[in-house]
Amino acid sequence: MDEKDWATFKEKLNRKTGIDLQLYKEPQMKRRIGNLVNRSEFKSFTAYFDHVVKNKDEFAEFIEYLTINVSEFFRNPDKFSKIEKEIIPYLLKRSPKLNIWSAGCSIGAEPYSLSIIMKELTPNVRHRILASDLDIDILAKARKGVYTDAEIKSMQADRRVKYFTKNPDGTFAVKPEIKSVVEFKRHNLLKDKFETGFDLILCRNVVIYFTEEAKEQLYANFFKSLKPGGVLFVGATEAILNFRKLGYTSFQPFFYQKPEDYKGE
Ligand SMILES: C[S@@+](CC[C@H](N)C(=O)[O-])C[C@H]1O[C@@H](n2cnc3c(N)ncnc32)[C@H](O)[C@@H]1O
Repeated sequence: MDEKDWATFKEKLNRKTGIDLQLYKEPQMKRRIGNLVNRSEFKSFTAYFDHVVKNKDEFAEFIEYLTINVSEFFRNPDKFSKIEKEIIPYLLKRSPKLNIWSAGCSIGAEPYSLSIIMKELTPNVRHRILASDLDIDILAKARKGVYTDAEIKSMQADRRVKYFTKNPDGTFAVKPEIKSVVEFKRHNLLKDKFETGFDLILCRNVVIYFTEEAKEQLYANFFKSLKPGGVLFVGATEAILNFRKLGYTSFQPFFYQKPEDYKGE
């Protein structure tokens, strides 16, 4: 597993999936993928790749391992309560219909949690919730909206009863009124074009392996995607240190705002 092998692997991966490992923290990614290769019968990154790419299920597992899509409903409940009690009421005063983006939505727990909150705060308004991820398989699961008991354990019992239907096999399906508000799409945050006009963007627990440069570019792109006054919400360990340089003001810890009087693009 030499440098040339690693370089060829990166190129093949990028060509097949659009995932550019140059934009990720290289030593960590190399170690992570190296562990996987060492556990397999293959002796090089490329031999491993050439094998998994031929098998749909194995390839899906590999992408899942690479992108790490652990999530849960109302993740970091104290922050979600801030969203519900402070951020969204503030945004609703500025605009009655919100345009929200859950970027790196994984299994859909984050956008569906938002959909529940919006239903409770404004039962008669149809907001837009865009949910995107890089991983097609995880998006298929998110679109389905069916979860095991363990996957929805973090949700309060009354919400579970109100917004989910229990299937005969013991799984729980998100009710159509919550599901239909969420629009899923595949989107690579390090490569694809960004939509604009968002009141709120959530990007939590996604950037862990991104390089500092890739993160800075991402937060600059989010800034352009927000409406003036719009808010970006990041993960509990992902405070943006240079938020001022990027144009944001700090609304509250982990919430960054595009100034209300912003007049640029
Ligand atoms: C740990 S999950 C976070 C899910 C949710 N935001 C949360 O906080 O619970 C990270 C997600 O980011 C996605 N991801 C990683 N790199 C990405 C990229 N370049 N573009 C879009 N999504 C990406 C992964 O596929 C994964 O589903």
